[in-house]
Amino acid sequence: MTGFVTSGRPHLLVLGAGGQVGHELSQRAWPPALDVTSLSHAELDICAPEAVAAAFQQLRPSIIVNCAAYTAVDQAESEPQRAEAANATAPGRLAQACAEAGAALIHLSTDYVFDGVSARPYVESDAVNPINIYGRTKEAGERRVRERLERHVILRTSWVYASHGRNFVETMLRLGAERGTLRIIADQRGCPTAAHEIADAIGHVVTMILDGSAPWGTYHFCGAGATTWYDFAAEIFAQSARHGGPQPQLHRIRTEEYPTPAQRPKNSVLDCALAKERLGLVARPWQQSLSFVLEQMFAARSGSAPR
Ligand SMILES: NC(=O)c1ccc[n+]([C@@H]2O[C@H](COP(=O)([O-])OP(=O)(O)OC[C@H]3O[C@@H](n4cnc5c(N)ncnc54)[C@H](OP(=O)(O)O)[C@@H]3O)[C@@H](O)[C@H]2O)c1
Repeated sequence: MTGFVTSGRPHLLVLGAGGQVGHELSQRAWPPALDVTSLSHAELDICAPEAVAAAFQQLRPSIIVNCAAYTAVDQAESEPQRAEAANATAPGRLAQACAEAGAALIHLSTDYVFDGVSARPYVESDAVNPINIYGRTKEAGERRVRERLERHVILRTSWVYASHGRNFVETMLRLGAERGTLRIIADQRGCPTAAHEIADAIGHVVTMILDGSAPWGTYHFCGAGATTWYDFAAEIFAQSARHGGPQPQLHRIRTEEYPTPAQRPKNSVLDCALAKERLGLVARPWQQSLSFVLEQMFAARSGSAPR
């Protein structure tokens, strides 16, 4: 990584810029007074300490947004070291580097830090108890960030999708076009969250950090309203009908009928009241954000809005 020039102005560094949230962030319009560098996995591996140190030295970032993560939930069960390196060790080192450089860190985490047995939405102060490797490594990452850096905002989000990348919406549309019927899990509840909404929330937090008003800490932020994977799928197909999308028959199944390597929480609904109160973040109803993303997806397919 060579050739970067620093200007003395605040510098925002986005890591994992090729992912769903990272991509949305790198497409954003930022205040002109802010220098922004977005680096994909290929451009900066957060698990490579020398490369991270070189990036800090060359770019002198004042705010880092860490969107990089090992997000393959099932694969993590057979690759725990890779998941640990990206989700726990690397964020810990990033937090340390931020502390030494006087920078702030916005770090993303997950609803999967919870075990899902609660009968109500999870609040930030609820005890964590991850039930899969991915969740365990993300929880360890959160803890290391908190231990090493005061100036951090951890945003826990859930069920992320975008008009690009691999996600539930893309999978449903692909499978729906290939098969006449789909069996969808109807006993796991959560909050679908559009990556562009997370990017908007991060943009708002960046503004707060720049004006010195950011209340550091851990917050929940996800799409408003909760649903099941089955009802999420039903809404995807109902809305995509307007765009000529596939219309498969859907069948409700229980988690036990679709065994996966990683266990998933039955309830991963996040209560976002604290983020509203302290950060002023208010997410749209998840169905509205879905509608926006589907429009983008179908427009891109028809060639009218390439992304
Ligand atoms: N996706 C979800 O449903 C979900 C739910 C809750 C929370 N979250 C959290 O939200 C954040 C963003 O998720 P997302 O949906 O945008 O994930 P994503 O689309 O999978 O993007 C993650 C990005 O991180 C990159 N990456 C992986 N290892 C890296 C490394 N060592 N160094 C640099 N980059 C690396 C990946 O690159 P490669 O593809 O090349 O590996 C990918 O571009 C993550 O912290 C995730 O844990 C996601």
